Amino acid sequence: MSSVRHLIYSRLLFHYSKSPIVNTSVCWNGRQKRLFSTTNRRRTVMPAWVIDKYGGSDVLRFTKNASFPVITYPNEVIVKVNAAGLNPIDVSMRGGYGAASLSVKRDPLSLNQAGREFPLILGRDVSGVIMECGLDVKYFKERDEVWAAIPPWKQGSLAEFVVLSGNEISRKPKSLSHKEAAAIPYVAATAWSALVNTGGLSKDNCAKKRILILGGSGGVGTFAIQMLKAWGAHVTVTCSQNAEQLVRDLGADHVVDYTTGPVEKPLSALEKFDLILDNVGGETERWALSLLKPWAGGKYVTLVTPFLQNTDLLGVADGMMQTAATMATKALKHLVKGVHYRWGFFAPSGPALDEISEMVDAGQIRAVVEETFSFATVPQAFEKMEKGHARGKTVVQISKEDDYL
Ligand SMILES: NC(=O)c1ccc[n+]([C@@H]2O[C@H](COP(=O)([O-])OP(=O)(O)OC[C@H]3O[C@@H](n4cnc5c(N)ncnc54)[C@H](OP(=O)(O)O)[C@@H]3O)[C@@H](O)[C@H]2O)c1
Repeated sequence: MSSVRHLIYSRLLFHYSKSPIVNTSVCWNGRQKRLFSTTNRRRTVMPAWVIDKYGGSDVLRFTKNASFPVITYPNEVIVKVNAAGLNPIDVSMRGGYGAASLSVKRDPLSLNQAGREFPLILGRDVSGVIMECGLDVKYFKERDEVWAAIPPWKQGSLAEFVVLSGNEISRKPKSLSHKEAAAIPYVAATAWSALVNTGGLSKDNCAKKRILILGGSGGVGTFAIQMLKAWGAHVTVTCSQNAEQLVRDLGADHVVDYTTGPVEKPLSALEKFDLILDNVGGETERWALSLLKPWAGGKYVTLVTPFLQNTDLLGVADGMMQTAATMATKALKHLVKGVHYRWGFFAPSGPALDEISEMVDAGQIRAVVEETFSFATVPQAFEKMEKGHARGKTVVQISKEDDYL
């Protein structure tokens, strides 16, 4: 029943949304003039990579018949995807990671049967062109070139089209191609949320602060280095030796190779830090907080949290309780030592991307693309990502840039 309501509502919105209207004048007996309006015939399917169940690389399936996305709320837009970016979470989600809490986010009242998320489209970054705007969208118009980070509970960008809220999109930096632009939004929104919202940093308070990034050569790290350097911070990075040149080129002031032995030893010989961004997790928590300046507002922000894992294992209610208890215990344990322990999470934000777009066009941030795959070779992109050791981002070119414009 709800799907019928949804269909009717989306059809209505489609008719009232700003799709191209062709007015045709018809003369009747040379006197009367009447206007007929026609809309373009709606497409109902599109090409996409989907999964129909969780599993390994064999669950990825190409189809030309994925449901065409519809505008459900008036603040939404349909974006034609030119390029999509992949992140570690896409590989994890393919295997079912986060399924419990993402299902609740998609369907809070649990009106649908289990498994209604399928066929699921992965891909968390998009760079493309707005094809259609909902009635309430004033800031953007059709044919605007935009980029966005797509929240994991929404259908992703490994498709010809994707629907997003106007609050989640931003104008693509003019200086980047779509392919380059698709390498930035998800890691940028994550780094922004962790460093700005959770870590309390901004362009006005960052100058000369000492920041340590654990795991600096991947997607989040390569973006975070550039953002922090643009804001005047002193940045120390851990990565493997063959990534040293890359992180130095991005502006890292000090680089520690983690492959030659325990990094805590060389790191503890350095001046203490104001903030640590942890992209590695696990064992790092045991020693990293001792590298912070005590009783001076020092913060440790880790992106590797047990939140989704807990809800997958224990169910949403118990998982959230377990997560809250773990978080509170750890925060308290470190607070008495004068340092702050926090978890960072991806948060979609068009306004944050607006600021990042300006930094890109000002030459302060560049896209770090590790490898580009064609739409036909998406499974190979996943296989490559599963092997790890990313140097920046993996991007999938969906359509040529001049296909649509
Ligand atoms: N909480 C959230 O909402 C959220 C959002 C986004 C990402 N994340 C998490 O944040 C982490 C980073 O994401 P990402 O996109 O940057 O991943 P990524 O592109 O795969 O990069 C991870 C990097 O970590 C490095 N690395 C691995 N082990 C290391 C170690 N012991 N010490 C130092 N570096 C090490 C690897 O570099 P080398 O090749 O040099 O070894 C790799 O480049 C992932 O765990 C991801 O799941 C969380």
